Amino acid sequence: MNNKIIFLLLLSLVVLLPLYASAAARVGGWSPISDVKDPHVVEIGEYAVSQYNYRSKAGLKFETVVRGETQVVAGTNYRLTVAANDGGGASKNYEAIVWEKPWMKFRNLTSFEPANHGLRFF
Ligand SMILES: *[C@@H]1O[C@H](CO)[C@@H](O)[C@H](O)[C@H]1NC(C)=O
Repeated sequence: MNNKIIFLLLLSLVVLLPLYASAAARVGGWSPISDVKDPHVVEIGEYAVSQYNYRSKAGLKFETVVRGETQVVAGTNYRLTVAANDGGGASKNYEAIVWEKPWMKFRNLTSFEPANHGLRFF
């Protein structure tokens, strides 16, 4: 190999490694959703409440997505705080996790529980 090729190989290593490392760091981390009124985010929130109602024979009424985060994992995990009302007066916040693989039209409610004043267990 001549020096030029060795130089180019080293250069591409130096340039590409940090790019690769930062892309890898993004996968698996949670990043905040900036627009909780985004129709797709709202749809995920509605889906979470309706799935919870279906599975638990509950009658919660979805109101809004209060806040949320997403995580890239062979698709996207949505961790949303949604406000919903059970008909008994004031609405409550719930934390829902929905896993979506849009290219397969796959969605699943992984977890749905009352929001614990900002405490998180996972
Ligand atoms: C959806 O999530 C629930 C709760 O984690 C799980 O029991 C169920 O098997 C999942 N369904 C599918 C189709 O992945």
